[in-house]
Amino acid sequence: MGATGLVIQLAYVIAAALFIFGLKLLGSAATARKGNLLSAVGMLLAIVAALLDQGIVEYQWILLGFVVGGVVGAGAARLVQMTAMPEMVALFNGFGGMASLLVGAAALATASGTFVLVTIVLSILIGGLTFTGSLVAYGKLSETIGSGAVQFRGQQIVNSLIVLGILASAVMFCLQPENSQWLYLIIGLSLLFGIMVVIPIGGADMPVVISLLNSYSGLAACAAGFAISNNILIVAGALVGASGIILTKIMCKAMNRSLSNVLFSGFGSVSSEQTVVEGEIKPISVEDAFYVLEAASNVVIVPGYGMAVAQAQHVVKELAELLEENGCVVNFGIHPVAGRMPGHMNVLLAEADVPYDQLLEMDEVNPRMETVDVAIVIGANDVVNPAAREVESSPIYGMPVINVDKARTVFVLKRSMASGFAGIENPLFYKENTRMLFGDAKESIGGLIREFS
Ligand code: TAP
Repeated sequence: MGATGLVIQLAYVIAAALFIFGLKLLGSAATARKGNLLSAVGMLLAIVAALLDQGIVEYQWILLGFVVGGVVGAGAARLVQMTAMPEMVALFNGFGGMASLLVGAAALATASGTFVLVTIVLSILIGGLTFTGSLVAYGKLSETIGSGAVQFRGQQIVNSLIVLGILASAVMFCLQPENSQWLYLIIGLSLLFGIMVVIPIGGADMPVVISLLNSYSGLAACAAGFAISNNILIVAGALVGASGIILTKIMCKAMNRSLSNVLFSGFGSVSSEQTVVEGEIKPISVEDAFYVLEAASNVVIVPGYGMAVAQAQHVVKELAELLEENGCVVNFGIHPVAGRMPGHMNVLLAEADVPYDQLLEMDEVNPRMETVDVAIVIGANDVVNPAAREVESSPIYGMPVINVDKARTVFVLKRSMASGFAGIENPLFYKENTRMLFGDAKESIGGLIREFS
């Protein structure tokens, strides 16, 4: 290895270290920006080193792609709404998969040996299914296509036939790499398989699917890295693959569901069994709720999907400030799967400039719940459902929830008695210490703010 080779390998090692430190910093909201910047610097270093490393003969197309991709990426990231972030991640995953597919296919020009051929098959297969799977996930999330779970008789048989077709063409491709029809067959079947595996999953489970596809896009890149013998692509792909699968596992655990249940049960396409709940509903008016809040010295706000629907984050922040001015300690209890995407509540509250140190994770907020005067539940339902602790037959039994029912008083802000994502009754609404403040969350909080001022 010459001096240039050494410098390039050193640049790869530094880039890999920057990726790892960047990922570590992304673990906390306070350091996430720094983590993002560090990883981006690592990526720039990796790109420059790879461009010098791969014996490129012509740079103009690469430069053109760099400029076009950079402009589109920066423009999309600037224009996208915070709440549409999962859709954008889905598209980026998809393009990552397509890039690996193209790299794999192009690597065939110089491929030699069965190992390289196998890595080419893997990068095309995983890249292809990631591409179309991500496009379907994007369509379901943005509701450009129906978000329901599409299931039909014989679906497993069709999927098994596709898998068999992929396996057979992969074997033929490794035996006759010069015969391009096998390559095209693998590409076509992989693209079809991506669609088939995502259509039976309901729209509300798309965040988990996107996280899984993110992991796949990493694996595809890793395989492409082996196909073109590029170390940094192998390392970066492995990091994406591992972090994607960890996030997927965290999400499934927080929902108390297995990954196979998310992928194969068509959750959300059928209504779940109903729990019979005893007790009566006690509605409260904005005026009465105000009197209770005015006297409170410790309040925990628990936001959920309804806060996102009502776009109530700014008025929530305003209410929190008014309570603090009134001498009250205010914290936010954040459940890991509140809303419909990882970090959904954190993103909305950050948009409204709620200080990070007011956000408490479920494990921090639960032990202090008995000392809380009022827990205000804003458009959350499943993540505060005590049936997860108390009703063994409940579909969400065992799911960790925020124990708002242990606070002295609970206000639940929602429009009706409708259930949440899991489609089940919530005994919280019938508890002795619960008061229902019916109405759109933004309007109800607006009413409370008017009372305070
Ligand atoms: P949900 O259980 O879905 O409940 C949301 C509640 O918000 C509904 O009961 C609805 O009641 C209320 N709501 C809707 N619009 C409102 C408005 N404008 N004003 C006031 N209330 C409104 O939400 P959650 O507690 O956040 O739980 C999240 C669920 O999604 C969990 O089951 C979780 O497993 C699932 N999930 C989460 C993720 C991630 S990563 N976050 C991914 C997939 C699935 P009304 O209609 O009566 O108003």
